[in-house]
Amino acid sequence: MIPEHTVQKILETAQIEDVVGDFVNLKRAGRNYKGLCPFHDEKTPSFSVSPGLNIYKCFGCQKGGNSVQFIMDHEKMSFPEALRYLADKYNIEIEEEELSAERKAELQEIDSLYVLNENVSKFYTEQLFHTNLGKSVGLSYFRDRGFQQKILDRFHIGYAAPGGKVLVDELTDKGFNIDYAKKVGLVNTYDKDFFKDRVIFPIQNISGKTIAFAGRTLKKDKKIPKYINSPESDIYEKRKVLYGLYQAKGAIRKENSCILVEGYTDVMSLHQVGIENVVASSGTALTEEQVRLIKRFADEVLVLYDGDAAGVSAAVRGLRIILSQGLKVQVVMLPEGEDPDSFAQKKGKQATLDFLEDQKKDFILWQLEHLLAETANDPMGKARAIKSIVRTLAYIDDALTRSTYIQHCAQELHIQETLLVDELNKALYELQAERQRIQKSDARKEQQWKKQEPSPIHSPSAQQLEEKKRIPPKVDIREKEVIRVLLQHGAKMMEDEEGNPLTVAEYVFSELENLSENMSHPTFQKIIDLYLQSLMDGLVPELKQFTQHSDRDLQTVAIDILTDPFEYSENWEGKLNSPLRTQKKPEENFATDSFLVVQHFKQKQIERLIEQNREKLQTFIEADDEKGVADCMAVHHRLVEVRKEINEIINRVIL
Ligand code: CTP
Ligand code: MN
Repeated sequence: MIPEHTVQKILETAQIEDVVGDFVNLKRAGRNYKGLCPFHDEKTPSFSVSPGLNIYKCFGCQKGGNSVQFIMDHEKMSFPEALRYLADKYNIEIEEEELSAERKAELQEIDSLYVLNENVSKFYTEQLFHTNLGKSVGLSYFRDRGFQQKILDRFHIGYAAPGGKVLVDELTDKGFNIDYAKKVGLVNTYDKDFFKDRVIFPIQNISGKTIAFAGRTLKKDKKIPKYINSPESDIYEKRKVLYGLYQAKGAIRKENSCILVEGYTDVMSLHQVGIENVVASSGTALTEEQVRLIKRFADEVLVLYDGDAAGVSAAVRGLRIILSQGLKVQVVMLPEGEDPDSFAQKKGKQATLDFLEDQKKDFILWQLEHLLAETANDPMGKARAIKSIVRTLAYIDDALTRSTYIQHCAQELHIQETLLVDELNKALYELQAERQRIQKSDARKEQQWKKQEPSPIHSPSAQQLEEKKRIPPKVDIREKEVIRVLLQHGAKMMEDEEGNPLTVAEYVFSELENLSENMSHPTFQKIIDLYLQSLMDGLVPELKQFTQHSDRDLQTVAIDILTDPFEYSENWEGKLNSPLRTQKKPEENFATDSFLVVQHFKQKQIERLIEQNREKLQTFIEADDEKGVADCMAVHHRLVEVRKEINEIINRVIL
């Protein structure tokens, strides 16, 4: 907490023309200043700064405010961050009196880690440019790769000499606390340098502070990892960092577009040729946090893939994350054998920009094209392709955008738009349910986390737990049958009532909503969740995913169901009083088999609803609530009707 009087002091001291002047080229105009607005693209200045009022205002985009506002908006900082920035600029001390001693110590330590990293970064650059080894090994390597001085400077590129004591000695000499160096992973537990005999790429956060390092070996030996990275620390969370964002954010904002590449050198080479709106996810799968960082500065992402990049399906995951954040996603595949680094160095700025402009494809159309090519003449594949593309569409928040894509996809896939709309609705629903489930389980985890001491009243005793373990969960034959149908027939094609082709799995999930929640057996739930997960990724799961699963219960149930295909008919007859009138094996009769199993499951759900309603009715009767009783009776009659309908359907089916 920054005390109020300090906030006031910062606001009074900060001169708006001075604060804005660090970012915008201002010209005097009478009592005010004018400049090109940093918040929107313009050719004639409509951005005005008034020293008298100590505010800024753009007459083009209407943005305006005081110094803190400007820093918050321009640097995308939070309120306290902006205050700290200004306090720093004007040497105003912030006494954080309200902080606990513990928190103060923590903040001091974090500051020390930054200071350490800054010094280490400087040391590595000195090593690169001013030592014999650095020059002959490191610098000549970068020169050979075509990197110029100004780009090495911009990214603070450095060199870590071999030996293992070079950095440790330097830090000891300068009086740094080696414990801090260990905390950020620069020194290992044996007091040796972590980075040895590598060129160094410092990783900076959004405000330019060095939070980690990456080191690239210059050896060709395949056994040595090409890059090693600082471990995560109090100041480095991998999933929240994009390499190059500090250097690129201005250009990203200006272009309203961010180019996403994979590697450090890709970022550097594009910068070198003059394409500066580029960042790298640096070797990790793209995260939601990273995408949100981009979103602060742009509405559009252009993803560059190496010509020999791994499969489409791997890419789709990351791209969906970008889509889900409301950004427009486009994709460019580079020619085979090229990565953005080699391509930019070879072609230069204009040819590279032309290539991107010419080749860039909307992500969804790109996915569609690839799926179609992969599944030509394969009806099963086509169904999977539809699932996958629809799943992608579900990530788009804007309904209008979605419907435009639906039209286009329906045309390309030669299927009816309404069919896609139906599928999309299902996918939207599933995605929503999935998100809720994740939210719920996160909340549960947090709850458990918060609970330091388990309360003796609410948690079951060890004995109770033991007892619970010994009683196997009840198996409902109708639940088990649904699992069997999914495992045995999931990938087979059938028709729905309107004669539309779909897989058995799609049929089951579309008929039985919230299937997982409606299973009472926990292992069945797990199987359904796993199955659904796979379907959402566009694939009917392979049986071995279940029969080889690491969860023993799951494995056993799956194997049990799959290895005893005929057991079920006896169960049907015995337990449901609805004998199967079939002579055929389910293999030959899978569509009817699936249909019946779905109907039986519905029947079970209706019965449960009737039971629940009956209980409710009882409480109303006891409470003498006439209206409640009447409502319950109405519901009861309706439920009984539905049950009758389902029973009739079941009895009509002749196998
Ligand atoms: N990467 C990593 N660890 C590795 C290999 C790669 O962290 N062992 C990350 C790095 O961020 C790297 C990116 O993945 O920049 C892409 O890897 P790759 O294409 O192999 O490297 P380039 O960036 O092309 O590096 P260079 O051009 O120097 O070969
Ligand atoms: Mn490369």
